[in-house]
Amino acid sequence: MAPTPTTITITGAGGQIGYALLFRIAAGDMLGPDRTVRLRLLEIPQGVRSAEGAALELQDCAFPLLRSVDVTDDPGRGFDGADVALLVGARPRTAGMERADLLAANAGIFGPQGEAIAAHAADGIQVVTIGNPANTNALIAQASAAGIPPERFTALMRLDHNRAVGHLAEALDAGADGIRDVTIWGNHSATQFPDVSHATADGTPVMALLAERLGPDGAAQWLDDEFVPRVAKRGAEIIEVRGSSSVASAANATIDHVRDLVLGRPAEAGWTSAALVSQGEYGVPEGLVCSYPVTSDGTGYRVVEGLELDGRARARIDASVAELVAERDAVRALGIL
Ligand code: NAD
Ligand code: LMR
Repeated sequence: MAPTPTTITITGAGGQIGYALLFRIAAGDMLGPDRTVRLRLLEIPQGVRSAEGAALELQDCAFPLLRSVDVTDDPGRGFDGADVALLVGARPRTAGMERADLLAANAGIFGPQGEAIAAHAADGIQVVTIGNPANTNALIAQASAAGIPPERFTALMRLDHNRAVGHLAEALDAGADGIRDVTIWGNHSATQFPDVSHATADGTPVMALLAERLGPDGAAQWLDDEFVPRVAKRGAEIIEVRGSSSVASAANATIDHVRDLVLGRPAEAGWTSAALVSQGEYGVPEGLVCSYPVTSDGTGYRVVEGLELDGRARARIDASVAELVAERDAVRALGIL
């Protein structure tokens, strides 16, 4: 008997990232060449026509793995039977909007979506938040989804992780596939800490390779003055250069995140980064959706524990975690959590 198709719900599917994601999912890039898929495109009424247009094009591709495409603006229908939910649609920040306004607007989206997921999704649902502020939106959805285990909620940090790997590969003149064990800690924001202290390139510690090229002081300076800010502020750089936020790289990172989550991450690839609901690992307050080094056996991401952190790393992680605490507290102050 043919296996049951996997149902994937994409919110904001009529937007830019949606358009870059849908065709790769339907082609099998996310769940592999053996799994058939049903796509549910959830939009708000203004976005429905654009999602319908994408659905027409999906049909015109005649993807062998694609079993159906449904477009809806009803969250109950959108999440019905979903095995994977990709929460892309979010309220962007507009001129004059304060941070609290942004959090409140997004709570109005991610709270009801969390409730709809709890009411309608399949038992094993995996929920990935991409829409910004991704970590706190994931927290809101998770807190609103009564009965679903918190570990089923993750937020995308893979774009930051891939950016860090890409920068290192260029700096070391190495292949990206030879770089292992980079970590992004904290929030998907400029406070994040891209950490290479355990990373290797083709088996050699990255710190040793950098010291060889730049000297020990030069390596530390390059990390603090170039690498960390360039990775942490890459989203803003893309907005400035492209005129709008990252799209293809964000969709690619989403594919990478879900593939490792659902199919498992090969041990030889080392760990990756994802934001999970903290259980207090590395001193991060429980319940925050914080980025960690993670592995996956195909049943979910697990935090890599026991890594040594020096004072510099600890201070940077604490600063990003403080921002996550402030976001959570701002949402709580609105009476949402
Ligand atoms: P976009 O404006 O092109 O598309 C967003 C879509 O979401 C629109 O079609 C809109 O109609 C829809 N939408 C809004 N509210 C919705 C709701 N309640 N339900 C369903 N759909 C809804 O934006 P984009 O370029 O696709 O980016 C989407 C989000 O992803 C933004 O918040 C962006 O900041 C974020 N992003 C995150 C990362 C990351 O690494 N986490 C990277 C890039 C972009
Ligand atoms: C990114 O990292 O590219 C985006 O999160 C930036 C943004 O603000 O949408």
